[in-house]
Amino acid sequence: RKKVTIQTLQGLHRKGEPIAMLTAYDFPSAHVADASGMDIILVGDSLGMVALGLENTSEVLMDDMILHCRSVARAAKSSFIVGDMPMGSYEVCAEQAVESAIRIVKEGRVHAVKIEGGDELAPTIQRITQAGVPVVGHIGLTPQRSNALGGFRVQGKTTSSALKLLHDATAMQEAGAFMIVLEAMPPEVATLITKKLRVPTIGIGAGNGCSGQVLVQGDMTSNFQPGRFLPKFVKRYADVWGEAARGITQYRDEVKNRAFPSQEYTYPIPQEELAQLEK
Ligand code: KIV
Ligand code: NA
Repeated sequence: RKKVTIQTLQGLHRKGEPIAMLTAYDFPSAHVADASGMDIILVGDSLGMVALGLENTSEVLMDDMILHCRSVARAAKSSFIVGDMPMGSYEVCAEQAVESAIRIVKEGRVHAVKIEGGDELAPTIQRITQAGVPVVGHIGLTPQRSNALGGFRVQGKTTSSALKLLHDATAMQEAGAFMIVLEAMPPEVATLITKKLRVPTIGIGAGNGCSGQVLVQGDMTSNFQPGRFLPKFVKRYADVWGEAARGITQYRDEVKNRAFPSQEYTYPIPQEELAQLEK
């Protein structure tokens, strides 16, 4: 497969072909996403909750992001890779944001950064873009701001909040963002925003009127303990936990009853050596 570049993504958008994006946090999850034809791999700060067991994404550090971005970059040979700007790495001033963005692409070896917020980030996005780092905007339900939003809540359900989202998306586009993630909003709102923008939109919980879709890999493959809360927009395409738990349980049973390892899983010793040894 040919390397996906910003031009590839713009080409897909021009043709009206949906852009397929998925998260990955480490070497194996990036390998399978790349091999399965993902246009974009997102090293999302959701890794804090999904891969590190933190309470929320606002605990994720720059060093966490860089470590995980590097692991993903080693595996992803074709997919375009986007790394999240973690909370606290861009809000203070544009200089801070530019420095963080450069570290994420330079040390993390990804191709672009994603930044959560709205029109207030326009100058920041402009500065990062001018530094040569492509930027993806992220609006709607922005998990880093869940304290301010009053939890994980669907956005844009009133006319004024929907218009604010359109305004934020437009401001990010004008500042230079080449793509905008729209999270948790009614499909009609996401479709409207998509129609008004020149740049592609990527939806998550935002209906199928966007220019592409993104999901968290561990969610859509059910790689989590049964009973964990899942947002409404997650479709479960696989049962990784179920398959892993089945195999591990069988392994435990076979260790306990000495069925494992049977002879085929052992290294033979030549007969004559064995004879010597047993003398
Ligand atoms: O961190 C993440 O996984 C994300 C996606 C849900 C868009 O930001
Ligand atoms: Na994120």
